[in-house]
Amino acid sequence: MMCSMPYRKRSKQLKTTDLGDLSGPLLVFGGVYSNLQALQALIAEAKGRGIAAKNMICTGDIVAYCADAETCVQLVRAAGCVVLMGNCEQQLASGAADCGCGFEEGTACDVLSAGWFAHAQKTVSAESCRWMAGLPDRIIFTHAGQRYGVIHGGVTNISKFIWSTDDDTVFDAEFPPETDVILAGHSGIAFIKPLGAKQWINGGAIGMPPNDGQPETRFVIIENGTPTIHTLNYDHKTASQRMVDIGLTQGYHVALNTGIWPSEDVLPNALRR
Ligand SMILES: [Fe+2]
Repeated sequence: MMCSMPYRKRSKQLKTTDLGDLSGPLLVFGGVYSNLQALQALIAEAKGRGIAAKNMICTGDIVAYCADAETCVQLVRAAGCVVLMGNCEQQLASGAADCGCGFEEGTACDVLSAGWFAHAQKTVSAESCRWMAGLPDRIIFTHAGQRYGVIHGGVTNISKFIWSTDDDTVFDAEFPPETDVILAGHSGIAFIKPLGAKQWINGGAIGMPPNDGQPETRFVIIENGTPTIHTLNYDHKTASQRMVDIGLTQGYHVALNTGIWPSEDVLPNALRR
């Protein structure tokens, strides 16, 4: 059954999951974007590094641009990763008409999103939508003596785009009290932003390269409180071909191979090519 009917309305109260204290290395990833080949490569990477599923933290947007929405949801669930709700999950779970990414109306990103969102709605199962509806809006935990908060876009707006080039005041305004490190996603480009004794870390996206002209994607490893951005090599040609095979040919299928986004509308000038 496809994912097009509204499920329970989420209350305005944010749902927070407290994981307690996490020991051992953490793997932070986001933006799977229905890219099955990238997700399989990431899980293999975690196994190779001996990182437990309970320490694999997904910042949301399992479903988006690529071909294998339902399979990716099922694989993330089977792997046992910790998952935060992204705007894509929120919109699918609520039966919304669009991805809720926050693209300005009429921009290329806005027009392009209509294609993949409709495909996702047709292919994601009702059971997966129910699971998405139950995902937390916030995840908190401690690690190496620091207090972490996991969010999707901004603290107060799930679809807020926050970039490495933003002024410190943008981050300071978002930073919740009693939090030392924020782990975020949504905007698709990984970065680590020191803010005095605090840090804002964007885990980036594994499902789409960061508009740098290379097909590899990114994830973050945190060991003993120290984050590093890592490159994910995966079978991007198969992921792209899968999109061609099912008619998702709006440009993101090319971006998987070229590493260049089909539109830079959403990017601040400083991050455009
Ligand atoms: Fe998002």
